[in-house]
Amino acid sequence: MLKNNVAPVVLAGLVVMVLISAAFEKGAIGAQPPDGKAIFLNNCAACHQANGRGGGPFPPLAANSDVNRADSSNLIEIVLNGRSGPITVNGKQYGANMPAWRTELSNSEIAAVLTYIRTAWQNNAPAVSEDQVAAARAPEALSGAALFAAKCSTCHQKSGQGTTVYPPLAGNPVVTAADPSAMIAIIVNGLSGPLTVHGKTFNSRMPTWKGQLSNADIASVATYVRSAWGNNASPVSEDQVAAAGSRVSVEVGAAIFSKNCAACHGAKGTGGVGPALAGNPRINIDNPTPMLTTIVQGRNQMPSWRGQLSASDIAAVASFVRSSWGNHVPAVTVQEVAAIK
Ligand code: HEC
Ligand code: HEC
Ligand code: HEC
Repeated sequence: MLKNNVAPVVLAGLVVMVLISAAFEKGAIGAQPPDGKAIFLNNCAACHQANGRGGGPFPPLAANSDVNRADSSNLIEIVLNGRSGPITVNGKQYGANMPAWRTELSNSEIAAVLTYIRTAWQNNAPAVSEDQVAAARAPEALSGAALFAAKCSTCHQKSGQGTTVYPPLAGNPVVTAADPSAMIAIIVNGLSGPLTVHGKTFNSRMPTWKGQLSNADIASVATYVRSAWGNNASPVSEDQVAAAGSRVSVEVGAAIFSKNCAACHGAKGTGGVGPALAGNPRINIDNPTPMLTTIVQGRNQMPSWRGQLSASDIAAVASFVRSSWGNHVPAVTVQEVAAIK
């Protein structure tokens, strides 16, 4: 008897628990994007009205051709930065003050409220993304984002997640390092593998961007890469790129290496008469002076290259060695070579 009464209660309890845990799993609690309608009612409806029809000095957002335009950039600007002065909406002039929401609302909240006003009240325009708001908020990041989409995303993918061939840039320690110089040098000079990121090895070729992109463009794409997709590192200045730009091309260095060095060190740097250069701990240190001293002055059976190769060729071949076969240290400058006595 008792058993028969308890079973349904236990069963009902189990069903409730399953439903609750399903709700948690779907992220119903916490993880959801901001509610555009709630943001509108809390912040905007006092002037534009809950039904979006405005009134008095406040223009309507419902049935408003500006709000319904496919290109949302103007709306994003207005909500971020505010607006005042004459505006004509549906043939009627308005001239009061629209407050700026830049500090009040986050990028995702502005995206949500704009998406709401573009789809409520029979408005019917495309959603606004958090990325679009982020790009408008920091205009210097806009061209970086556009450059990334045009020049880098084919390999590194739209969200910097990479592929099995191309390394991820999102969450990549080289990209987010406090000192951006190694990353800048890679973008300027290119890089050839192998390269390990998060325990996964990549062994392909990153193109050289020197001559393809201006220093200003490299600074903005580097700034974008360091700040997108949860990366949260400091911006890169044009001066930092210029400093890296005086470093020489690894493409040139590869040719010099195969002509002058491969016979003793191996075409893949694995060694021969001379020691392995791949993975060599005396090379994989930031300070290039010890290796440059060996190359310039020679040592035992290692010939001196002073007088055989120009300072710029030595800088190129050293930069190649420092960024090839898993070596992963910044390129060197002609000045650093010239400083070796
Ligand atoms: C204090 C009143 C007030 C509040 C609050 C307010 N607005 Fe406005 N809004 C205005 C006024 C006034 C204008 C017209 C400004 C002008 O004349 O330049 C305007 C203009 C706009 C426009 C441009 C319309 C067009 O046709 O180009 C948009 C979009 C907009 N508001 C959205 C919002 C959103 C979204 C919020 C809430 C986050 C908001 N507003 C909150 C007063 C307000
Ligand atoms: C043709 C494909 C391709 C394009 C286009 C490309 N990359 Fe790369 N990138 C690579 C490859 C491959 C590597 C890894 C090289 C290796 O295996 O040694 C790499 C490496 C990098 C790294 C170093 C990552 C690390 O962990 O050290 C950065 C930073 C980078 N790329 C940024 C960019 C930026 C910024 C652009 C656009 C301006 C770009 N890449 C365009 C293929 C590409
Ligand atoms: C004739 C053979 C030979 C040639 C050619 C040669 N090397 Fe070497 N290299 C050696 C030997 C042997 C050593 C080890 C010297 C010693 O310490 O005894 C060495 C050492 C080095 C080192 C230091 C490695 C360490 O572990 O400290 C570097 C860097 C280097 N070579 C780079 C180059 C470059 C770059 C070229 C081409 C421009 C080159 N070598 C050409 C034989 C050669």
